[in-house]
Amino acid sequence: MTELSLLIRPELPSDSDAIERLHERTFGPGRFARTAFRLREGAPHDASLSFTALVGTLLVGSVRLTPVLAGSQAALMLGPLTVEPAFENRGIGGALMRRSLDAARQEGHALVLLVGDEPYYSRFGFKRIPYRQLELPGPVNVERFLALELAEGSLAPARGMVAVRPVQAA
Ligand SMILES: CC(C)(COP(=O)(O)OP(=O)(O)OC[C@H]1O[C@@H](n2cnc3c(N)ncnc32)[C@H](O)[C@@H]1OP(=O)(O)O)[C@@H](O)C(=O)NCCC(=O)NCCS
Repeated sequence: MTELSLLIRPELPSDSDAIERLHERTFGPGRFARTAFRLREGAPHDASLSFTALVGTLLVGSVRLTPVLAGSQAALMLGPLTVEPAFENRGIGGALMRRSLDAARQEGHALVLLVGDEPYYSRFGFKRIPYRQLELPGPVNVERFLALELAEGSLAPARGMVAVRPVQAA
């Protein structure tokens, strides 16, 4: 069998349909009711910080970052992170995470939030947000509401409601 190598590159507009189908397969129709999905629906993700994984011409994974305000503090909301089920456990999720977090750091972003499994995301440095420090516009399990400080001390001043914010023009 031919070994096809993994390519991680910035998301292109033409990836949208395949990513939507991947989200449908991974999260099902219930995804639209999830608080993080509903929050992100309010504004486009930042294409320069969102990455697609390809094996050959097959789209096998995606990660997106969306600009938000955490109280009055600028932050990014990470997600969805999705890997095609047949391609799980090959390091694709990790490669997408590292690429998007490196890009966010290089662009000077200070804080990344997400809703997800702490046992997975802790390997990238994500930690639980103290209870009620930040709130999402919908129910969220406090054990799954996580933050990564790209700049030390960036979480402490972030207090209140998380809301989407428009992407700044370059
Ligand atoms: C979670 C997900 C993105 C991981 O992608 P992946 O490419 O399989 O991950 P990697 O290959 O980089 O890492 C695999 C490791 O993560 C672990 N892992 C995967 N999902 C995990 C979870 N939910 N909790 C804890 N560990 C997890 C695996 O056991 C494996 O551990 P090991 O390194 O000790 O062997 C992928 O499984 C997925 O798309 N799941 C469904 C969608 C989802 O839950 N997305 C996250 C919420 S937005």
